[in-house]
Parts: sequence; C-alpha cells; structure tokens
Amino acid sequence: MKELDYINGAVAPPGEATLSIADRGVLFGDGVYEVLRSYSGRLWAFDRHMTRLERSLRQIWIDNVDIQQIRRAASDLYRQSQLPDARLYIQITRGPAERDFPLPQNPRPTVVMTVRALQEDRELRRRGARVITKRDLRWGRVDIKSLNLMANMMAKKEARECGADEAVLVNERGVMTEGASSSLFIARRKTVLTRENGPHILPGVTREIAIECAEEAGLRVRECAYTLDEFRNADEAFLTGTTLGICPLVSADGFPIGGGKPGQIAQTIRQLYNRRVQEQRDAPIAQREERNA
Ligand code: PDD
Repeated sequence: MKELDYINGAVAPPGEATLSIADRGVLFGDGVYEVLRSYSGRLWAFDRHMTRLERSLRQIWIDNVDIQQIRRAASDLYRQSQLPDARLYIQITRGPAERDFPLPQNPRPTVVMTVRALQEDRELRRRGARVITKRDLRWGRVDIKSLNLMANMMAKKEARECGADEAVLVNERGVMTEGASSSLFIARRKTVLTRENGPHILPGVTREIAIECAEEAGLRVRECAYTLDEFRNADEAFLTGTTLGICPLVSADGFPIGGGKPGQIAQTIRQLYNRRVQEQRDAPIAQREERNA
C-alpha cells in the first residue's frame, strides 16, 4: 500500500513530481479538478465524477483531453496504490504557456493526480457539524469545478477560527447556496430541500446520490431556493460531500438547528447511501468498474 503522485503519465512517490512555473494552473488557476474516494478498494461513483470532469473541461474550453485515457490513468494509479480507503485527486490545467490572458495556441494540458490514504471523520458525522453562515463571495460559475477556490478557502478559515466545521454560504439576497466544500440540504416535515443546479452551486455527486436516496425513502425532494431564515428554522439540515459523506448539521452561528441534534432524515438518507456503498462492495468484479454508485 502506498500513496502516489502522477504527472502527465509519470508516477512518483508523494512530493517528487514537479510542475512548470509557466503552467497556466499556477499562473491563472486555469484548470479544473475532481476529488473521488474509494471504499474497500473500489472507486466510488467513478462515472459521475468523470462526467462532471468532462463537463468542467468543456466549460473552460480545454477540449483536447481524452477523457477515456484519464479514466484509465486514474483507475490504474488507484489500483497501483492498493489503498483500500483513499482520496483520489485529479487536476487538469491548460498547460504551460507564456503568461498572457488570451488562450494560448495548441496548449498541452497538464494532468496531475494524487492518491492518499483517507482519514475518515466518523466522529463529525456522529455528533453533527457546527457551521457558521458567510456571505457567498465566489464567482458566478461555481458549477465549474475550477481551481479558483480563494473564497471557499477564506470562508473555511473563518469557520475554523470560530471553532466550526464548515461555513455555509448565503448570497446577497439572503438565499442559501451551499457549503464552502459541501452541498447543503434542509428538511421541513417530510420534504427535503436543496438548491437547484445552476451556476450558483457545484452539482455535487454526493448531493445527486443523496437526492436519489431521499426519493427512495419516500421523501419529497424540492430543488429550489430557500432563505437564511428558512435554513435557521428548518426541522433539520445536513451536508453532503465525497469525503464527508452524509453529515448532519446541528448548529449555525452558535444557535441550534433542528433542536441541536442529528436529525432522523439525514440518518435515513445515510443508511440508504451506505447500502449503495455496500452493494458496490459486494458486486461481482466485472460490474464494479462500470457501476455508477
Ligand atoms: N469539494 N460544493 C462545493 C463547493 C465543494 O467544494 C464540494 C466538494 C461539494 C460536494 O461535492 P461532491 O459531493 O461531488 O464531493 C459541494 C471537494 C471534496 C473538494 O474540493 O475537496
């Protein structure tokens, strides 16, 4: 079992691979990324992540990347690591070029990947996340999983300074968007609400699976705008993300949400989510690679 790095086809131990200072990812943040995880030796929701990666690439006009080759390289690298529970990071930038704003002619994209052992925060899921609310200062196309994460990082820093686990973001009109690095859901009676996909949120992979699980549980799901007030007064709330899983949210800005205890709906959805993970583990080898969560 070993952690590994990868750059443009070359595999190296962590920290040894280097990137050109002329790379547009370094100079402009001109690139996109994905974070995947594995459970017990299987990459989770692989197709969904690859579909989102392909979309992100297209949205920023990086159109000379062979996504089939990225798929093969990613699963080969993960297999080589032999880590049962790992985080796989994939980053594709436009590649090296003279520093100039217009897009360079025929750039050669840089593909970087890392595989790391995953440290699970089970305690956080058990006790529930404490969050702060912060103004959403991100740019207008956060549906693209781009490398530009300054506003996310700043919100997260402030959350940590307040002793919170996450910042949930609210726009200038008092409407909730999502977490700094997670999707946000609230529940009212038997209805689950989360923002509709669009330029204002990342189309979260875990969000999508959580919606399917909620529907499977017979809950009504509404993908729509909801306000800070509705969030604060929700019966319960929860966060979702690849490494976070389905995590109840118990307080915001020091005030309890849904009685300050992990809610029943989050738990139901988490159980169904875990069942899907288990089904993937139990699937015959041939189906595992293709299975889409
Ligand atoms: N972030 N929203 C934002 C802004 C995110 O950064 C993330 C995940 C999510 C959840 O998406 P998914 O369920 O596909 O992981 C929502 C990753 C994990 C990161 O940047 O490290």
